[in-house]
Amino acid sequence: MTDTNLLSVANLSVGYSTSQGVVNAVSDVSFDVRRNEVFGIAGESGCGKSTLIRALLRLLSNNGVSTATSITYEGEDVNSFSDDKFRDAILWKRISLVPQSAMNSLNPVYRVGDQVIEAIRAHRSVSRSEARERVEFLFDVVGLQPELMRSYPHEFSGGMRQRAMIAMSLALDPGLIIMDEPTTGLDVLVQEQILRRVREIRAEVSSSIILITHDIAVIAEMSDRISIMYGGKIVESATAIDLFESPFHPYTLGLKNAFPSISVMDNELISIPGTPPALIGEESGCLFEPRCPFSDATCAQILPQSHSVGEMHQVSCHRHTDVTELREKASKKSTWHC
Ligand SMILES: Nc1ncnc2c1ncn2[C@@H]1O[C@H](COP(=O)(O)OP(=O)(O)OP(=O)(O)O)[C@@H](O)[C@H]1O
Ligand SMILES: [Mg+2]
Repeated sequence: MTDTNLLSVANLSVGYSTSQGVVNAVSDVSFDVRRNEVFGIAGESGCGKSTLIRALLRLLSNNGVSTATSITYEGEDVNSFSDDKFRDAILWKRISLVPQSAMNSLNPVYRVGDQVIEAIRAHRSVSRSEARERVEFLFDVVGLQPELMRSYPHEFSGGMRQRAMIAMSLALDPGLIIMDEPTTGLDVLVQEQILRRVREIRAEVSSSIILITHDIAVIAEMSDRISIMYGGKIVESATAIDLFESPFHPYTLGLKNAFPSISVMDNELISIPGTPPALIGEESGCLFEPRCPFSDATCAQILPQSHSVGEMHQVSCHRHTDVTELREKASKKSTWHC
């Protein structure tokens, strides 16, 4: 591991047992998170984003089993930790999570401030007044008035509850904060306020952030580097600038078309026809092939390997050498909807 890597994950896979067979929700995913960066993970619903980070944090539901060849955090081989040791030593203290639908994660019968105070005292031997001071500070960081510590969750709006969960994730000063869809379900104005706070937090604390969202415009605005997931795999990884200025994978090209651009206000939105794969049983070939307007015979049969197409840019597509043609055609609606 180099000094710049905070987290390195190699070959992480997750299967869920179901009555229909095993759902291969995450397959052979490898990535690094560097110090002081926002690492974005984007992809449509069901592509395995939450499963990936829940496996990393050992928070999978009982029917999920994960394997990885290695997971190192701050140079330590945390993959070999027992579940108990991982929960004691890593979870919340060193890596925290703002879970998907976090705004529903607060306990309705306790005051919001008390919940954060108790979270701190569960892991640190500090007095109640010291913990209270810390929570006041954290409320300030996320833009909540200190008086609101005395409120109950039902007195908070969705955006305020989301801010409280972000305060909770900062409570123990972890090196890595994972935010799973932190703005989904909030109205656009509140989304923008939360994202602005996340940016400010990032400037103030030295933590790295993994930001997960299906909204590629949000991820572009917030992240230093981005991985795009499809069908439980990472199909393209690059710096945010490279991913938006020089995308390679047809799925990334399609996602870019499907979200309002942050720079071009009047671009026409073009959806990607079809739906993501069910991920049950063995698959052959590229999982995006059934929806890809550029696929050829190889794509249906052979799983594409990761190719390096730039200094920090990898793509898993057989047609990566035809990228100029792909980019030009991908911008036309008729390519996707004929
Ligand atoms: N407990 C479970 N049992 C069986 N299958 C599951 C379970 N949890 C998730 N899955 C399946 O695993 C796949 C990945 O789901 P996951 O929730 O990780 O996706 P996601 O990218 O986070 O989606 P979203 O954007 O909707 O949050 C999906 O096919 C989903 O149906
Ligand atoms: Mg999810």
